[in-house]
Amino acid sequence: MPPVKIAINRECNGCGICVRICPARAFTLVEQRAVLSGSCTFACDHCAAACPQQAITTELFPAEPFNFSSFAVDQNPAAATTLSGLVRLMRSRRSCRLYQDKAVERKILTDLIKIAITAPSGTNSQKWTFSIIDNRRRVIDFGTEIAAYYRRLNRLAEKSWLRKILTICGQPQLEHYYEEYYESISEGLELWYNKKEDRLFHGACAVILIGAEPGASCPREDALLATQNLLLAAESMGLGTCLIGFAVEAMHRDRKIKATLNIPAAETIYSVIALGYPQLRFQRPAQRRKIDINWIS
Ligand SMILES: Cc1cc2nc3c(=O)[nH]c(=O)nc-3n(C[C@H](O)[C@H](O)[C@H](O)COP(=O)(O)O)c2cc1C
Repeated sequence: MPPVKIAINRECNGCGICVRICPARAFTLVEQRAVLSGSCTFACDHCAAACPQQAITTELFPAEPFNFSSFAVDQNPAAATTLSGLVRLMRSRRSCRLYQDKAVERKILTDLIKIAITAPSGTNSQKWTFSIIDNRRRVIDFGTEIAAYYRRLNRLAEKSWLRKILTICGQPQLEHYYEEYYESISEGLELWYNKKEDRLFHGACAVILIGAEPGASCPREDALLATQNLLLAAESMGLGTCLIGFAVEAMHRDRKIKATLNIPAAETIYSVIALGYPQLRFQRPAQRRKIDINWIS
């Protein structure tokens, strides 16, 4: 990223907060005033956001306006989410595998992306990408590409001699696939092709793909943090979501699938999210295994 343009005005009282907070160590104090002594490429804006005198201005990238179409943001700090409300929301999010045949409006889908990008990103690169399939017909087209990939894979996995040779050559992945997934995928394919039953996207009317452009320092983490934001926001809007790892895997293995969605070849997709109005609400939050914390003191 090019260096960020930073200006410090006369209001600076030399408190030194910018010196301490800047991850690029771009500020120093000279005669009780902050001066720019280095350059910053992070565009994190922490200096301007933390300055109690509002003495710092930064010239960043063109920013996405944070106004939403499907709801209003309450600016009152007292309306901030309570911890218990936040935890309730996190616990109530469950994977939805039963969707209504009802499209999700574009303005809601856009708001979800705007919420997703409030996530942090490595070196603030924000090189995440978002593609949205907003209607059931295109979801089915996408599913057909994924199904074709697994049909080819299953045909390969059926060949016991091939599995054996690959295992001997130190590539046991096809054998593992055969043992773990072959049968359930065969069943899913049978339903997809012969019964028009969708075990892949579970009948969702929208699919969101989150990826990253080349050049991000932590592309997978950035995309997945944005994903979790989106899942929680969707839950609080009454929408159901389900991560579809099978689609991510197929897109990694068969790079042509991206072209069918007009996704540039250089982009990598890290999450595929089925999304829509759920047919039912869960009565209970998810149970989680007991955790064993490794305390280091
Ligand atoms: C990385 C990842 C990939 C997943 N892939 C699929 C998938 O392909 N199909 C599916 O129906 N569910 C998928 N899931 C959903 C999980 O099965 C689900 O999150 C898990 O069973 C816990 O249930 P919960 O989400 O209701 O808490 C995936 C979840 C994750 C985190």
